[in-house]
Amino acid sequence: MRILTVGGGGREHAAVEALYRSGAEIYSVMKNANPGIIRRAKEYKLISERLIDDICEFAIEHDVGYAFIGPEAPLEIGLVDALENIGVKCAAPTKDAARIETSKAFMRELVSKYNIEGNIKYAVFLDAEEAEKYIKGLTFEIVVKPIGLTGGKGVKVQGEHLNSHEEIMAYVREIIGTVGMGGVIIEEKLIGEEFTQMVFVDGKHIAPMPMVQDHKRAYEGDVGPNTGGMGSYSDANHLLPFISEEVRNKALEILRNIVEAMNTEDCPYRGPMYGQFMLTKTGPKIIEINARFGDPEAMNVLPLLENDFLTLIKDMTGGKLREDVKFKNLATVCKYVVPVGYGTVSDSGHEIRINEDGIHELNAEVFYANVDLIDGKLFTGTSRSIGVVGIGETIEEAEKKCEDALGFIVGDSICVRHDIGKRELIQKRIDRIKNLLS
Ligand code: AMP
Ligand code: GLY
Repeated sequence: MRILTVGGGGREHAAVEALYRSGAEIYSVMKNANPGIIRRAKEYKLISERLIDDICEFAIEHDVGYAFIGPEAPLEIGLVDALENIGVKCAAPTKDAARIETSKAFMRELVSKYNIEGNIKYAVFLDAEEAEKYIKGLTFEIVVKPIGLTGGKGVKVQGEHLNSHEEIMAYVREIIGTVGMGGVIIEEKLIGEEFTQMVFVDGKHIAPMPMVQDHKRAYEGDVGPNTGGMGSYSDANHLLPFISEEVRNKALEILRNIVEAMNTEDCPYRGPMYGQFMLTKTGPKIIEINARFGDPEAMNVLPLLENDFLTLIKDMTGGKLREDVKFKNLATVCKYVVPVGYGTVSDSGHEIRINEDGIHELNAEVFYANVDLIDGKLFTGTSRSIGVVGIGETIEEAEKKCEDALGFIVGDSICVRHDIGKRELIQKRIDRIKNLLS
């Protein structure tokens, strides 16, 4: 079976490996020359993932039947609609259905309209004076975000990134004044622990993946600017050390209700769906719903997938998904190697060297991301460079493996958040939740 893959990051490399294990014939488009994808693809084309006509032409040229689309940007501009028009079945949402991610206002309004649990106080503005009046009347702390896509980096939190009314208003004005951001959304600031629950969706049914915790802040100790995610871990029982089965079921119920509401709204959702939640004193609350796999989270779950990924993709597009998608009961820790400055201004364009055999001898996984293969050498781009995943019986074992594997990657001006998956950081999270819930 011929399948088109779109995207050149770590998430897409992990998906391509899972498709390769399924025996798929892979045809890839991506903007950077990702060596992990290139080696698995029958053909590939290096173009922007937003060039819909060129991507359709490539799909026709290679007669692909299905498509897997990794990033959100092409979903926002209707790549799925265009591919479906030429008969390519997509395990990804249409432009309308992708609004669950591409418009934070659409998501919050849908969840309100259908009285789905997990919503929070929010308000949407296109006018800075209106926003200021609202903010002045508030008795709780807030988070300020653009309504549209920001690659995970446009969120500013009061008390962390915004420390005075003036700072808040300057950011509100900046967002409102920037074309393409779609206005500003002011949300109640949630206190608790974040977690990711992803599900496969076929328009009606959902099938859960193991839970994962990502680390959005750029620096160790969870400080610094927000990033696309510096690394993540998952546990062997598919819960997280601070999450009970009951909390997981609530999160799944919220996602099930969103899928049902989208059906009722006549924009059925197909593809992987990503729920980002905060476990608070009053239960799990929705931070964000994404219309795709998380990155890095895809690198935690896809290596554990026991089902055939290509069959899963067909089932998602054909409305035939079964609830019991199987994953190995193993723990994973993923750490991203990133260019110094990632999250603010990346120092990119440096050579990075990797001993893949050494990593594979450890039974660890490596997923290439925003790197470019030029004349047989690898160079860093401005985004995350290489994801390394340790897999083990426990998080501790997986973390150690990941660290050992990281020793096989060297380069100038690269860094890693080494605290991810370490006992001390996880214990801090367990204690925080214990205190919060007591
Ligand atoms: P997002 O791009 O919506 O995933 O947000 C990036 C990060 O900002 C999240 O991972 C949270 O750490 C933080 N964040 C977003 N929304 C909220 C909220 N309502 N309350 C507290 N933190 C938030
Ligand atoms: N890991 C965060 C995201 O994919 O949005």
